[in-house]
Amino acid sequence: MSANAHTTIIEILPAVADFLQRKHHLLIDGRWVPAQSGESFATLNPANGETLCSVAAGGIADVDAAVTAAQRALPGWAALTPAQRERLLHRFADLMELHKEELAQLETLDNGKPFRIAFNVEVNVAIGQMRYYAGWPTKLTGEIYAVSSPGFHVYTQREPVGVCAAITPWNYSLVMAVQKIGPALAAGNTLVLKPAEQTPLTALRLGELALEAGIPPGVLNVVTGFGHTAGAALSQHPGVAKVAFTGSTEVGKAIQRAAADNLKRVSLELGGKSPLILFDDVENLDAAAEAALWAIFSNSGQNCVAGSRLFVQAGIYDAVLARLATRAQQLIVGPGLDAATELGPLISAEQLARVQRYIEAGKRSGATLVTGGERLGGRLASGYFLAPTIFAQVADNAAIACEEIFGPVLSVFRFEDEEEVITRANALPFGLAAGVWTQHLGRAHRMAARLKAGVVWINTYDWFDPAVPFGGMGESGVGRELGRQVMEAYTELKAVWVKVE
Ligand code: NAI
Ligand code: MG
Repeated sequence: MSANAHTTIIEILPAVADFLQRKHHLLIDGRWVPAQSGESFATLNPANGETLCSVAAGGIADVDAAVTAAQRALPGWAALTPAQRERLLHRFADLMELHKEELAQLETLDNGKPFRIAFNVEVNVAIGQMRYYAGWPTKLTGEIYAVSSPGFHVYTQREPVGVCAAITPWNYSLVMAVQKIGPALAAGNTLVLKPAEQTPLTALRLGELALEAGIPPGVLNVVTGFGHTAGAALSQHPGVAKVAFTGSTEVGKAIQRAAADNLKRVSLELGGKSPLILFDDVENLDAAAEAALWAIFSNSGQNCVAGSRLFVQAGIYDAVLARLATRAQQLIVGPGLDAATELGPLISAEQLARVQRYIEAGKRSGATLVTGGERLGGRLASGYFLAPTIFAQVADNAAIACEEIFGPVLSVFRFEDEEEVITRANALPFGLAAGVWTQHLGRAHRMAARLKAGVVWINTYDWFDPAVPFGGMGESGVGRELGRQVMEAYTELKAVWVKVE
């Protein structure tokens, strides 16, 4: 890691300092209330392990109160005209824009990610999404059907599903919250949001902004708390009609099981072990290697679409591996508030330990540790920092080759031809994302058609747009978020038959 002598530490805004001074409650029915148990928990800054502030630990009774509030708010919210709902959601987006820097600082403090990325990527993406969804209420329509039985007029209409629950992860807390709040509210549903216990702060700030925007009480409720308590209570609650979850595959399966009792609609964005495939005809090898570098190391590898399996064709394998090792060693790892930082810490001591266990398993599996592998000390010793890590000569069935690590750990594989790499890339139960670098047009389309993934990027990686559906195949999830598809997922379709003759 480069020594970085000229550090500029970003100054905390007074509004953020003030926010951290306060004890945070739950947002239920438009009011901030403590957990009924009186319990709270601390959220930490992963860059130094220090407590940022105290947040209410919502439990079963609080979830119940939030669902009741959302049920009460539902008819009024659904009855607003589409234009009225649009205006409120745009006002919400306006306030996010006004408080952009503050939201980015809160995310950097709570999650650890570089401020630059929080500000330029995460907050911008979240605002872009909120605006995209804000435009949907006036565009939601049904269809008219040409049926073969004479004398009927048949049409469909879209209706809200009801009370929705959103359970979100810590890696992109703000975007994940908006990705669920936006379509749920645009479609006329009400929502209970449970953010990850590691990063509750931006969700709480969003709750404040929603109230300020004039979104009626009970339409958006925020219950902070733990997965096995608040999260489990939400996924079991009979008053919840739909649950949208992003997180681990294991918890996704538990949520789907819990949701079965009242047949909740379930959408799951789960883990991945996404293959990135570099063919030896790439136009610019350095550009491809740079893309592969950021495909795995952005957000310190804590990214559902992380390109954690890199397949490199034999002819360019040595050159790509050497380039990657050099670049990985140059990456500046540090606190997110340091303006020079490129990679922040991992989210928690638990996540660090989990990733370190994978690294040890990788070494034992006989893979070659090319670079990294160690926790960083010195000025970073009190945070959860890990050196960007690359393994080569990895067996296809090693744990580091098959399981989602969610840390800055890349496995590099050598391959000979197209047929072989398709088989190896598709060999896991996951199917979230894939990347292909090639100048061969036919090969690019053949690969796109055959890769098992909800999204395939050709000569690029990790691009999103609110208009483009996103989600996984196989154990990477159920359903799609973003785009028209997510609006369909937050509505019920009703067919109406009218006998006209
Ligand atoms: P997690 O899946 O436990 O947490 C995600 C969310 O689910 C949090 O809000 C949590 O409170 C909630 N939750 C946990 N248990 C629950 C339950 N029984 N019922 C309802 N909600 C529950 O993920 P965790 O433990 O934070 O991270 C562990 C691993 O999961 C990571 O190392 C990574 O591999 C994977 N993960 C993947 C994500 C992705 O986007 N693909 C995001 C977060 C984690
Ligand atoms: Mg935190």
